[in-house]
Amino acid sequence: MYQIVFREDLTPNIHHFKIEAPAVARKAQAGQFVIVMADESGERIPLTVADWDREAGTVSVVFMEAGKTTQKLATLKKGDSLAAFAGPLGQPTEIENFGTVVCVAGGFAIATIVPIARALKEAGNRVISIMGFRSRNLVFWEKRLRGVSHELIVTTDDGSYGRKGLVTEPLRELLQTHKEVQRVIAIGPTVMMKFCSQTTVPFGVKTIVSLNPIMIDGSGMCGGCRVEVKGETRFTCVDGPDFDGHLVDWDLLLARQRTYQEEERKALELWQHQCRLTAEVGRNA
Ligand code: FAD
Ligand code: FES
Ligand code: MG
Repeated sequence: MYQIVFREDLTPNIHHFKIEAPAVARKAQAGQFVIVMADESGERIPLTVADWDREAGTVSVVFMEAGKTTQKLATLKKGDSLAAFAGPLGQPTEIENFGTVVCVAGGFAIATIVPIARALKEAGNRVISIMGFRSRNLVFWEKRLRGVSHELIVTTDDGSYGRKGLVTEPLRELLQTHKEVQRVIAIGPTVMMKFCSQTTVPFGVKTIVSLNPIMIDGSGMCGGCRVEVKGETRFTCVDGPDFDGHLVDWDLLLARQRTYQEEERKALELWQHQCRLTAEVGRNA
């Protein structure tokens, strides 16, 4: 069992857990992920390693409530344990001294980009980061990302904080004014990564994205995480999750992510119904 030694709510539906998992903490590198089970009977879901402390033997994950399993995770408290926390899995993000790198992240992926930006800065790069949110009340880890970047631009869709608009606008401007940018790393919702990749195409700047197809075993056995990159089938869990965004078949990925939407909706409804019943029994006891 993997104990939750720290829990904080970063926004109403984004949570940070620090998990006691010494074997994962020893080997984790930026860009890798773990497969988590909230309890013995639950499904397996992938979460990116957001941070680690090799001495303390702890690993941080940050997750957004999306459906049944992430809502179930959100009910856990400090001192509770996860049934599985397997990893680190996947290929680490390629870190070299590229020169100037732009790191773009949206929503929960801010936590994913922080260790990547940190590793790029430590490798001697000039790191310019862009973080995007829907609104001010969803902003988190701004100080952390600022601390590992030379420059930080914050955007909100509604303009309630930072610059109004999508992350692709400052990204395009940066590429127009900073011809020295060698690489863009964009992580977040699939649509955001798709549009960031489209934005960088005319500038010919290599753009790395972290793909998030449905995963089951996370070890290359089930084929659930198949994606098409440069017309070839790749398994995200072992070949990725990082790929060249200019070569990804985005529409196929978006379609495959929706495969089980009906089942996911029913599972969530049933779980929420069970939660309501349990609360009612508690009140009447
Ligand atoms: P559901 O209602 O079951 O699903 C909601 C949507 O999430 C689905 O439509 C589907 O697109 C996606 N999803 C469902 N099951 C899976 C699955 N087994 N694997 C992947 N996607 C799934 N989310 C975070 O909040 N933080 C992270 O750090 C993070 N890292 C990820 C790293 C990788 C490599 C991948 C592939 C995904 C990552 N995700 C992360 C997404 C996260 O795994 C899904 O949000 C989660 O599985 C949803 O489960 P659910 O039961 O709560 O929601
Ligand atoms: Fe099964 Fe990748 S999750 S092959
Ligand atoms: Mg689910």
